[in-house]
Amino acid sequence: MGRPTPRPRSDAVEIFTSIEGYRAWRNGLAPDATVGFAPTMGALHPGHLRLVAESRKANAFTVVSVFVNPLQFGPAEDFSRYPRPFDEDVRLCREAGVAAVFAPEAADFYPPDFSSYCEVEGLDEFLDGASRPGHFRGVCTVVLKLFNIVKPRRAYFGQKDIQQALILKKLVRDLSVDLEMQIVPTVREATGLALSSRNVYLTPDEKTRATALSRGLFLAREAWARGERSARALTGILRSEIESSRPARIDYIEAVSQADLRPAETLSGPSVLAVAAFYGKTRLIDNVLLD
Ligand code: PAF
Repeated sequence: MGRPTPRPRSDAVEIFTSIEGYRAWRNGLAPDATVGFAPTMGALHPGHLRLVAESRKANAFTVVSVFVNPLQFGPAEDFSRYPRPFDEDVRLCREAGVAAVFAPEAADFYPPDFSSYCEVEGLDEFLDGASRPGHFRGVCTVVLKLFNIVKPRRAYFGQKDIQQALILKKLVRDLSVDLEMQIVPTVREATGLALSSRNVYLTPDEKTRATALSRGLFLAREAWARGERSARALTGILRSEIESSRPARIDYIEAVSQADLRPAETLSGPSVLAVAAFYGKTRLIDNVLLD
């Protein structure tokens, strides 16, 4: 079968706020129509649009969900102030050639007696899983529910949230969810700062200092490319770059195996060097793949 013809960019985007409304549209597509899916929490930036662009290359229809998922935020996190520029998100989706935006209401999506959750054991013990208890249970639950509603052939996730992407990949494999998972490289500003919806919280000074994250990661990756395999040496390079940028706090700096996301002393196979640090009150994450 040849490549699907993506819809022209000028087409109107459908907007659905109810599961029934979306399902009626989805069920009206031809049985062999391919749907690519980019789940988001909105506040779209070029990183999200890259997911859309990848989806449009391979699928006839691209669906974006916009839903700030309460289940994945801890009590002291930024759920209530998370940016929600919905009209702008719809405009960006329309311009990017998205066929449908699914933006459910939290009360419909999680009815008051909702009590079913999904968890991938093991991969959530380190990195963000250790710092944000319950976060990945919330992510897995919402994403599995979205997969059941959206019914995509392919789903697109950013490498910036590498632990999320690898956990969801395992969920799809373990539970035989019938779709292909695609991990799309991180999109960065010219300064190297990884794009994130949370970057809007940063003051100009914090934003400048936060470029140390990518600088440190790239320096460590260069050392890895020259043959350095000691996790202590690689994390040390990253740590000293970040410390010199005066973050409010470093949450973690870890070199882990891509297979099980466990810290390793010596990197022997495909690995990830990952960091989470606070600039002001804003927690930023970033990573590079070493493979
Ligand atoms: O990466 C995100 O924006 C969210 O974790 C996701 C995958 C949309 C689930 O709420």
